Amino acid sequence: MAFEFIVSELAARRAASLLRQRQIIEQVDGRTLLVDGQPYLNFSSNDYLGMAHSDDLKLAAAQAAPDWAAGSGASPLVTGHSQAHAKLEAHLAEHLGRERVLLFNSGFAANQALIQTLMSHGGHILADKLSHASMLDGALASKAKLQRFRHNDMCHLAGLLASAAGDKLVISEGVFSMDGDAAPLLDISALCQQHQAMLYIDDAHGFGVNGDLGLGAGSMLEPAQLPLLMATFGKAIGTSGAFLAVPEDIYAYLVNFARHYIYSTAMSPLLAAITLTSLKLLQKQPWRREKLKENIQLFREKARQLALPLMDSQTAIQPLLIGDAQQSLTLCQKLKAQGIWVTAIRPPTVPQGSSRLRVTICASHTKADITALLDALARGMGNDA
Ligand SMILES: Cc1ncc(COP(=O)(O)O)c(C=O)c1O
Repeated sequence: MAFEFIVSELAARRAASLLRQRQIIEQVDGRTLLVDGQPYLNFSSNDYLGMAHSDDLKLAAAQAAPDWAAGSGASPLVTGHSQAHAKLEAHLAEHLGRERVLLFNSGFAANQALIQTLMSHGGHILADKLSHASMLDGALASKAKLQRFRHNDMCHLAGLLASAAGDKLVISEGVFSMDGDAAPLLDISALCQQHQAMLYIDDAHGFGVNGDLGLGAGSMLEPAQLPLLMATFGKAIGTSGAFLAVPEDIYAYLVNFARHYIYSTAMSPLLAAITLTSLKLLQKQPWRREKLKENIQLFREKARQLALPLMDSQTAIQPLLIGDAQQSLTLCQKLKAQGIWVTAIRPPTVPQGSSRLRVTICASHTKADITALLDALARGMGNDA
């Protein structure tokens, strides 16, 4: 029978408690969601600063709606590139101190575009072992040799760089999406400079939250230290889409050769306008970042007291390491029964034996929400004696 793998691979996933399924989620506000009419406290959102559901952003959307089309109508090189896109790009370039910014419909596309296009003539890509799937897919679609260095291990990276040939690209994440820890940005950029390698950082989970005014990795390193930067709008910024911030020559190269940019309908102009407003609001509202920091501290302090299996993360991503996939799912079910929504992350997203609950803390959570989560976790894991 043709395509036999479909049945067998799905059966294998089901048997290993690794089958994925979607659910219709109704977002109520930044804190709660409804599933099948049932309310849950949401600890599975990347809307870290509570922007997506904020009154400020809803108002911005209503104000922008009469001026900008919902759809761009074409790819950027045809007739899809509008003033709304140009303004958003210019704002980002100015505030990040980068020469050029290019918008994409998703971080997945931006990562693939940059890596596949820049490394289309061969060379060497050195990727942190925990780099996002879209970066690895971009590397595999390029003509370069891909080698992965142990997570945040600068000695391993130095060794690989010393023996790498041709054009060299080092790729990593500002904040790692499943672990919540950060890349050693200064060390990694120093190594890149020493070995004439280009550094590319995916700051999907740091942008909006970390650094001066929430500008993330791009505000922590100069363009010479970090020439290639990507961040998404779908997390702390509260909208969706992504950008690349790059030097002038690479910008021109991408506009001419990046297939994901050239052959895809440009981002919605209305979304670009709302995204620009969100960026401006976030710069004017440091209280969101402060509240997030307080909530993270509160969660970690109490989780430590309860001896929960915290990982080494100071960010909004606070995974609890369970190990076994089925145990992670069972714990999620116990939390759901108590009105708490947390997602279990299982292989192949994370390595075998490292299934976890990916708890995300947001600025919109109250102290009572966090206490409710911790109480439910303690009950679920039997640590409440
Ligand atoms: C680190 C990282 N990079 C890239 C992406 C992809 O971004 P987008 O959702 O905009 O496609 C994600 C997840 O969404 C991510 O976690």
